[in-house]
Amino acid sequence: MDFELTEEQRLFQETAQQVAEKEITPIAERVDESGQFPRETIAQLGELGFMGVAVPQEYGGAGADTVCYVLALEEISRACASHGVIMSVNNSLYCEPVLRFGMEEQKRRFLAPVASGKSMGCFCLSEPGAGSDAANQQTTARREGDWYVLNGTKNFITNGNEADYAIVFATVNKALKHKGICAFAVERGTPGFTVAHLEKKLGIRGSSCAQLTFDNCRVSAENLLGKEGEGFKIALATLDGGRIGIAAQAVGIARAALEASRDYSKQRIQFGKPIAANQAIQFMLADMATEIDAARLLTLNAALLKDRGLRHTKESSMAKLYASEVAMRASIKGVQIFGGYGYMMDYPAQRFMRDAKITEIYEGTSEVQRMVIASALLS
Ligand code: CAA
Repeated sequence: MDFELTEEQRLFQETAQQVAEKEITPIAERVDESGQFPRETIAQLGELGFMGVAVPQEYGGAGADTVCYVLALEEISRACASHGVIMSVNNSLYCEPVLRFGMEEQKRRFLAPVASGKSMGCFCLSEPGAGSDAANQQTTARREGDWYVLNGTKNFITNGNEADYAIVFATVNKALKHKGICAFAVERGTPGFTVAHLEKKLGIRGSSCAQLTFDNCRVSAENLLGKEGEGFKIALATLDGGRIGIAAQAVGIARAALEASRDYSKQRIQFGKPIAANQAIQFMLADMATEIDAARLLTLNAALLKDRGLRHTKESSMAKLYASEVAMRASIKGVQIFGGYGYMMDYPAQRFMRDAKITEIYEGTSEVQRMVIASALLS
């Protein structure tokens, strides 16, 4: 593995650091408290090319690589995990499948506006009865001439309230199990496509999490991504990339917890000395830092494999599994180091813990990641 960053990768990282520090860190607490989608700063990320990092410039993206993407995402998520997931879903779960599986005309129509950050995308796989068991799709796609008619409910859709375009998975024949699933690009405003409900969440409160319904929603056959029946593979291949993004988000959250705890432990005086003078605190910081570096290396490894066009299913799951559990452990230690103040909403330690938890759940729970890793080991 060669992790010497190229000039472009270093520039991406530095630009992300700058925008995070100047524009995002100052509003992170307000975004969390209000639960409001941070439209202006997301638009700024779009202008910097961060909403379509690995999309070629001819389709509105920055034309960079996955390593650039994870470096930027770590910095943005360190400042605010809500911005991190909004960016991650737009890049990994919307832009990537359109780029990879879309025809030329579909890329012009459905990719360019979203990769440029002018419009927003979301990914509609989860349903009330299809979470970890994603193949159990109940949303149906009935073919009628040159059209498909979609009916069903999608759950927990990140960016669902703001998205102008959605990748929607639906089955043409439930008896075919995963081989009946198709992927469609659906525009907001298509009759029958409704935002039915917005969830209230524990963390990443600045991003929306919506229930979307499709009620006799007619979509042209031109909106089908890939072939009929290829939808499940499109979903899982997309998640191979998405999980790298969530790993980077988790590394960013863990780093925020470590840096806040380190700074606090140097200024908090108890028993006549900074609490950082105690080995109990030092060992917690040392464990956090070591695990964060290991999580970042796993994440970069998966990103590098992806950039080299190699299969990265196992490595993405390893990175996501490990980084999300590191984020949880680091943020819990952070609350402990802050002591009573860590439990108070006036200090950021609790936010990192609330934000970290979802990284162990979305884009495949830790249990699903272990299934994917074990299956790769045993095949
Ligand atoms: N890429 C491409 N194809 C793949 C694949 C991959 N990574 N993994 C499996 N496949 C193929 C298999 O080869 C198989 O194809 P054949 O039938 O031709 O042999 C087919 O897909 C079915 O594979 P499995 O039998 O392994 O599938 P399964 O039904 O047992 O499911 C699973 C496997 C790993 C549990 C999968 O369902 C899964 O990942 N579940 C979790 C879903 C998930 O992550 N949801 C997240 C929703 S999005 C989200 O969270 C967004 C957000 O808010 C941020």
